Amino acid sequence: MQKRLAEQAARLGQGSLWELVTGDPARATDFALRVGPLYANFARQHVDREALAVLFDIAREADLPAAMRRLVDGEPVNFTENRAALHTALRGDLSPARAARDAHRQAGEALARMEALVARLHADSRITDVVSVGIGGSDLGPRLVVDALSRPDAPVCVHFVSNVDASAIERTLVGLDPARTAGIVISKSFGTQETLLNGAILRDWLGDGTRLFAVSANVERAGREFGIAPERMLPMWDWVGGRYSLWSAVGFPIALALGMPAFRELLAGAAAFDRHAVESPLEDNLAVWHALTAVWNRNALGAAAQAVFPYDERLRLLPAYLQQLVMESLGKQARHDGEDAGIDTVPVWWGGVGSDVQHSFFQALHQGTQQVPADFIGVSRSDHGHEGSHAAMLSNLLAQTEALANGQPSTDPHRRYPGGRPSTLLLLDALTPSALGHLLALYEHSTYLQAVLWGINAFDQFGVELGKQMATKLLPALRGEAEADDPVTRELLSQIRAPR
Ligand code: F6P
Repeated sequence: MQKRLAEQAARLGQGSLWELVTGDPARATDFALRVGPLYANFARQHVDREALAVLFDIAREADLPAAMRRLVDGEPVNFTENRAALHTALRGDLSPARAARDAHRQAGEALARMEALVARLHADSRITDVVSVGIGGSDLGPRLVVDALSRPDAPVCVHFVSNVDASAIERTLVGLDPARTAGIVISKSFGTQETLLNGAILRDWLGDGTRLFAVSANVERAGREFGIAPERMLPMWDWVGGRYSLWSAVGFPIALALGMPAFRELLAGAAAFDRHAVESPLEDNLAVWHALTAVWNRNALGAAAQAVFPYDERLRLLPAYLQQLVMESLGKQARHDGEDAGIDTVPVWWGGVGSDVQHSFFQALHQGTQQVPADFIGVSRSDHGHEGSHAAMLSNLLAQTEALANGQPSTDPHRRYPGGRPSTLLLLDALTPSALGHLLALYEHSTYLQAVLWGINAFDQFGVELGKQMATKLLPALRGEAEADDPVTRELLSQIRAPR
């Protein structure tokens, strides 16, 4: 794959995006797709039709349609742990396979139980606030969706705590009344240090254990460690990866903040995108386009970074969410057979919200020496009624993608914009639960398809284990009860412990 992509990149050379677009104006529409409320335009990616044909050949050879089927049928696509990754079964039933149907049934039962708990909490007029404790996949998805979609008249105000730094939970609890607050501890494993520590602080602060809930695949441990009764526990399963889990009971905080109908709309939006991703031919498949252009940027153009810029304040947490989704999924180098992938895999994903970012690091994107491909995300219709502001927002979005792509010549090198910087524009008609469901499902499927193209596993995360083990081993040294083995760590500990 690498060789074929490199050949295409060499043929295309450094030619400007402006030349590519003006030389083939139909690409403005031909390189665009719509799935329900989600529109995507790839015309400003540095590919032409010939390079695209090669990319689609690669997709065919990798049999991406079969890979999508394996995913939704519940085959062990998480091959290092011999598990399915059935997040699609949490939101739809597009597979007749036994594993997928069983998963969908279990998900439906959990959803019904969650709905009853949501109704109970909403009916309790004493409860004004909910504190959700979790980290990584047990935090970022619900946090993003609640931040994006909750309204000032939300039935309860949901707060999130993830960091093991107790300043986070202190700051959250300071303005809350324990008698009017419910707590949720979300942890698939119920063994995550940060969540157990924060969960214990929350439990003690609440005092009354009847307002503490848990979401976990390890109900036994949740019961043992936190004394949470089974009726206040919601399930998780090993066939859902943490970073793919906001559609499960991990979305309990979402349902509490937005209400159950909105949560179901979110699921339905994602399910509609799932159907598109599984059933559409390669050339009409938005997830495939997104994955192929990602692979192109990484392996043909050598981009070591990929940016994401939502031009909507409500999506400000999307970059953080995508960092986990994409980098925890694709930050690997071992293939199925244990051999080295032999190709660069995930670039560094980063980003921020427009238009703020234009006044901080965009200088480097326009005139720096590195080309950073970017996903720009806009929302056509605003909900805030300030049309002047919304027009300014959209004009900034359009201007940035144009300036990055086309640049501007100048005889003064300091004032020259080289252009040629690729981007994809994703547009939501409006920021509804359904549209957000479409968008997040797009990123999930693109991530999986990139993994298939690179031959790596999108669903394990062994890379995070070593640091956790070492941190546990270092706790006695921090308490002064042991010495660290590593001389540098020993010196650092002596600095930390020295009285000053
Ligand atoms: O440290 C990585 C990780 O395992 C993530 O994959 C996961 O989303 C997060 O920790 C939280 O795990 P848990 O839900 O088991 O607490």
